[in-house]
Amino acid sequence: MDKNINSTEKKKVIFSGIQPSGNLTIGNYIGAVRNWIDLQNEYYCYFCVVDLHAITVRQVPADLRKRTKEVLAIYLAAGIDPEKNVMFVQSHVPAHAELAWVLNCYTMFGELSRMTQFKDKSRLHSDNINAGLFTYPVLMAADILLYQTDLVPTGQDQKQHIELARDIANRFNAVYSPTFVEPQPYIPKTTAKIMSLSDPTKKMSKSDFGGGSVGILDSRDDIIRKIKRAVTDSGSEVCYGEGKDGINNLLNIYTAFSGKTPEEAEKEFAGVGYGVFKEAVGETVADSLKEIQEKFKMYMDDKDFLDGLMEKNAEIAYSNARKTLSKVYRKVGFYHP
Ligand code: TYM
Repeated sequence: MDKNINSTEKKKVIFSGIQPSGNLTIGNYIGAVRNWIDLQNEYYCYFCVVDLHAITVRQVPADLRKRTKEVLAIYLAAGIDPEKNVMFVQSHVPAHAELAWVLNCYTMFGELSRMTQFKDKSRLHSDNINAGLFTYPVLMAADILLYQTDLVPTGQDQKQHIELARDIANRFNAVYSPTFVEPQPYIPKTTAKIMSLSDPTKKMSKSDFGGGSVGILDSRDDIIRKIKRAVTDSGSEVCYGEGKDGINNLLNIYTAFSGKTPEEAEKEFAGVGYGVFKEAVGETVADSLKEIQEKFKMYMDDKDFLDGLMEKNAEIAYSNARKTLSKVYRKVGFYHP
């Protein structure tokens, strides 16, 4: 397939990415990767492993290297087609860091201070509140704006960052002339925020090492056990409802993996207790992930394929990104003979 952006001019562009900063969870799968699979045929897609973002929190270098490959293998195993999409590693394309620097000068201190993820992460890593953590959303804006992205499919937690990217694009376009496409978030309601199994009022997260998160690579037994132990309310009816955070969450997980609608799921479990429902959710998740895990192993065993894919796709991404970067350099007044 020809991934030259010029030959696909009519297709709208998607950019999204995941940090290789921990074991990917079913939150990452449902909130991001699963939606990418549905969108990949309609859009020209960039799916990135955002390693530059990952070092805003201290990483063990060997683990970061390993996880970078793993995240790419998970994209492939989940069904992202390497022939159709540009799948690459952020640090392989220097234009991301280059544009981020320029955009830093068009982003206000006050705007970044309002980012809720910065506030949350500062609390979580109070011993390492580095400047990168603060300017993180600017690098994310650079990721998105470099490729003239129309749509950014993510979970709810990234909405504020995408809105900031829009504001930065608008500001730059107004100061100079139209340079960037203004990106739109793509955040479907039932996949927007998968909650922790141990506290369904909190987001499921890669950094939760307890029973609250189900990893994409978790064993069948672990998956079923964690879902069985998921915190739910004291009721007994399996249906969406206020105050039923745990059940709402399990229904969202179930619909994402089974492909059923919320109404179909409620009907299927009408009259059965929470125990039976949890067992069915566990089995469904474990069955779906089994297939992904088998393919994951196959990709991880083929180092040459993964390395070749990264290299080829970084070249494609860079060649497309350079067009935007040159435009930006010219507009701000950099002298390039
Ligand atoms: P990250 O690595 O934290 O998460 C990757 C993706 O998974 C989604 N997600 C969730 N969705 C639903 N429920 C959850 N519990 C859940 N947890 C995570 C996230 O919303 C995200 O879509 N800053 C981004 C990575 C990034 C990016 C970008 C994304 C860098 N540049 C440009 C889009 C476009 C992040 O930290 O994602």
